[in-house]
This record gives sequence, C-alpha cells and structure tokens, in this order.
Amino acid sequence: MTRQLITLIVNGDRYQVPVAPHETLLDVIRDQVALTGTKRGCTSGACGVCTVQGEDGRAVLSCLALAIEWDNRPVTTIEGVAGEDELHPVQKAFLEYGAVQCGACTPGLIMTAKALLDENPDPDEEAINEALAGALCRCTGHIKVKIAVREAIKAMVADAAAEDSHGV
Ligand code: FES
Ligand code: FES
Repeated sequence: MTRQLITLIVNGDRYQVPVAPHETLLDVIRDQVALTGTKRGCTSGACGVCTVQGEDGRAVLSCLALAIEWDNRPVTTIEGVAGEDELHPVQKAFLEYGAVQCGACTPGLIMTAKALLDENPDPDEEAINEALAGALCRCTGHIKVKIAVREAIKAMVADAAAEDSHGV
C-alpha cells in the first residue's frame, strides 16, 4: 500500500510518519507516535474517548480524522495538557472531585472540557452539557464529571482574577 510521509505536530513535537490514505489520526497518534493516552473506543464518532484538540483549540474526534489531512497541523493530546510542574486545572478537578473511576473515558473527557474552556472560559450549564454530550462515561454517570468541570471553571476564573489584580 502506498504510504505518504507526513509531519505530525503533537504537543509541540514534530514526528515524520508514513501514513496510508485510510489511516486515522487516532491510529497514527497511538501506533506510530506511541502516545497512548488518547483512547480507542467505538472508532465511529460516538463515544468521545479519542478526543484531541486541533490547531484552533477545538475538540477533534481523532477516530474520524484522516491522518493525511493533518500534515503540519498542530494537535494537542492528553499528554500535552499538564504544565511542567503541575496539572491543568481540569485535571486537578477531575482528581479532586472523584470524576475518574476506571479512567477509560478520562482523557477524552478532559480534552473535551479543556476545548470548551479554551473557547469559553465561563460557560453556562447548557454549554457544559452540550459540550459533554458526546463524551461518554460508563462509570460516573457524568455527575462527578460535571461537578469537576464546574469546579475547574471556578478555579480558572479565580486564577484569572488574581492575575488581573496583580497586574500580570
Ligand atoms: S473512538 Fe472516537 S468517538 Fe469513540
Ligand atoms: S471513568 Fe470509567 S468510563 Fe468513565
């Protein structure tokens, strides 16, 4: 099968990878770039566990994205979310508020929530529900997930206010 060499930019690192026309971004991220935090679930766009962020910060279902179309386009995966010294506020809140059980859905949920908050730092309940609707969790029933997202929003809003008051 003919493969084309593309450059994937994942979490700021560049990877030259040979991809077949039918291969998905999910397959290449997991199997060639060897970042396995992005999970493989339904592979048909229905569960959200494969969610990554594209260059514009929007959530992308990597199981539905053809890798060949991501040549030289930045992608953020769950491995790129934490800062050097600390977790992202969404990750912290998931841990603190018990939104993680088996963990299968967790990377996708965190990427989905982060994509929402990057676009809208203070979303209302409807926006949260809408964003999370396509990211399934079999363990938590989404209640703790929604609590964690709301707490992450509070923490991020408070951090932003503190930075403003210090003139940063
Ligand atoms: S694996 Fe992509 S949506 Fe389920
Ligand atoms: S924590 Fe198990 S599927 Fe969500």
